[in-house]
Amino acid sequence: EKTIKIAIDGPASAGKSTVAKIVAKELGYIYCDTGAMYRALTYQAIQNKTAVTDEKQLVQLLKEMVISFEPNKGDQKVFVNGEEVTDAIRLSDVTNAVSAVSAHGEVRKELVKRQQEIADRGGVVMDGRDIGTAVLPTAEVKIFLVASVEERAERRYKENLSKGIPTSLEVLKQEIAERDYKDSHREVSPLIQAEDAVRLDTTSLSIEQVVEKIREIIQTKL
Ligand code: C5P
Repeated sequence: EKTIKIAIDGPASAGKSTVAKIVAKELGYIYCDTGAMYRALTYQAIQNKTAVTDEKQLVQLLKEMVISFEPNKGDQKVFVNGEEVTDAIRLSDVTNAVSAVSAHGEVRKELVKRQQEIADRGGVVMDGRDIGTAVLPTAEVKIFLVASVEERAERRYKENLSKGIPTSLEVLKQEIAERDYKDSHREVSPLIQAEDAVRLDTTSLSIEQVVEKIREIIQTKL
């Protein structure tokens, strides 16, 4: 059977990873969370007190890092050199520094290379910011997921509540807007919809409705 490459891009908290995991599971494909890779490097930089502006040091750090994933009940665990960082890379210190780390061209070059190696193994669903434009420009399916800042902040707020993490909706809104701005305005591979991507606004859609729309698009390519 034919295997294809599926790229899912979009701004922060648009639901990319949620739908990517579901679609990957249904197809029996690899799911690759590229944001987790940028987050893992940011986490390691904080641990090592490496400045987020120090491109050379960041690349050095990255070259010494093995980033690996392990399936875990429909989700994934993330490891850096064998240490589990699944939860640590989602904390706000990492979230608020990751855009600065990911803006460096040499950092992206190294991570894009690793992402392309993962995709070379076969059927893949990869989510991020530059998958359709830079990592997998020949992907058969390209989705650009968007939703209003209000809706995305509210989803994240509810998710945090359910995990018992106290947050402020206003702060979340500001952080999301700021990260989108930085990711869209960097020089190297900014967040932008690929010309041949299908844009899906999920503001008033359920997860199942989004997945169903993506299934329909995939069906035309299989
Ligand atoms: O997807 P997630 O929100 O976890 O990504 C964290 C950050 O990693 C993004 O805000 C962005 O700065 C960076 N990133 C990127 N390119 C990707 C994936 C993530 O620059 N393909």
